[in-house]
Amino acid sequence: MWEHTHTTETTPFDWHRLKSVPPMNDFLDHPILTVQQHILREQQKFPGSSGEFSFLLSGITLAAKMIAAQVQRAGLTDILGTHGDINVQGEVQQKLDVYANKVLLHCLRIRESVAVLASEENEQPLTVHNGSPNARYVVVFDPLDGSSNIDVAVSVGTTFCILRRDPSSDQTSDEEESLRDVLQPGTKIIAAGYVVYGSSTILVYSAGNGVHGFTLDPAIGAFVMSHENIRIPDQGKYYSVNESHSDSFPPSDKQFLQQVRQGKVGNQIYASRYVGSMVSDIHRTLLKGGVFMYPPTASHSDGKLRLVYEANPIAFLVEQAGGEALSGKIRVLDIVPESIHQRTPIVAGGKVEMEAYRACW
Ligand code: AHG
Ligand code: MN
Ligand code: MN
Repeated sequence: MWEHTHTTETTPFDWHRLKSVPPMNDFLDHPILTVQQHILREQQKFPGSSGEFSFLLSGITLAAKMIAAQVQRAGLTDILGTHGDINVQGEVQQKLDVYANKVLLHCLRIRESVAVLASEENEQPLTVHNGSPNARYVVVFDPLDGSSNIDVAVSVGTTFCILRRDPSSDQTSDEEESLRDVLQPGTKIIAAGYVVYGSSTILVYSAGNGVHGFTLDPAIGAFVMSHENIRIPDQGKYYSVNESHSDSFPPSDKQFLQQVRQGKVGNQIYASRYVGSMVSDIHRTLLKGGVFMYPPTASHSDGKLRLVYEANPIAFLVEQAGGEALSGKIRVLDIVPESIHQRTPIVAGGKVEMEAYRACW
């Protein structure tokens, strides 16, 4: 295995050069790049970078491994089932939601570069390292997305965004300042990603320089590069939406859906795929192309998904991969959030699908 983790090296780490080096072992015919090595390599492009950002991201990968381990054991332990608490959305929390939230809070709050944490499972943001000049980042997350799928052994996920704390804030934040730091539009995101806990555990992230996927190798406990520079196909074969709500969609969404079903979008015959775990549905959409929709419905007039920690990370990744994410006519990333848990409609997909969607407005 090609190990290359030392931070003091003088020349930038060149993954492509390693690819051309003859293998030392016949059973390892290409070099392994872990997510940590990848982040270090990316960081070397910014001279003077302190390494704090990679340390912050390592908090997320550690949490992801802990959550993955627990998700895999869900059928074996009494952690399965409803925890009984009602979360701030009025939904019943599953035990794994609570666990995943605790793990992420724990792994991130000990990193000194973190100033504010906001989670789907907490009504208010949490201010940490108050007064530290090193506390520069805000992390928002949905610790466990698709949690109603756990009981039936279907894939779930984690979504996250990293933002910079307003540099004009003084070093001690009151609740109001922390809230303001969380309520930044998606255009201010510096990195975002998701983890899908499926037949394998995959971390997909972007720090604004392409979208990369890393699969957890349980044998070595590391996320290794498996999907370099993901590009969403211009047109795919799948549309992904909860069709039971389609009667109450707005006219533009209805019209678009009808065009997709009738093969009128780029003459493509589309198949329907809907897991009901946003992360899984988006992961397929990114890799295979197509379109994912959660428009306004009779029961959720602003759509169901939460802007800050669900729609924004997805929109950031889809755009980074060459696709588009809209909330009605508006770019999701342009929306200025007014509250942490606000919802937004979202339609995200490849170029051809999104052009057709735009044309319906
Ligand atoms: P969460 O488990 O974090 O509350 O999110 C569930 C979300 C999302 O994963 C999925 O896209 C959506 O709920 C599914 O909603 P419907 O059952 O209404 O289709
Ligand atoms: Mn969710
Ligand atoms: Mn959730």
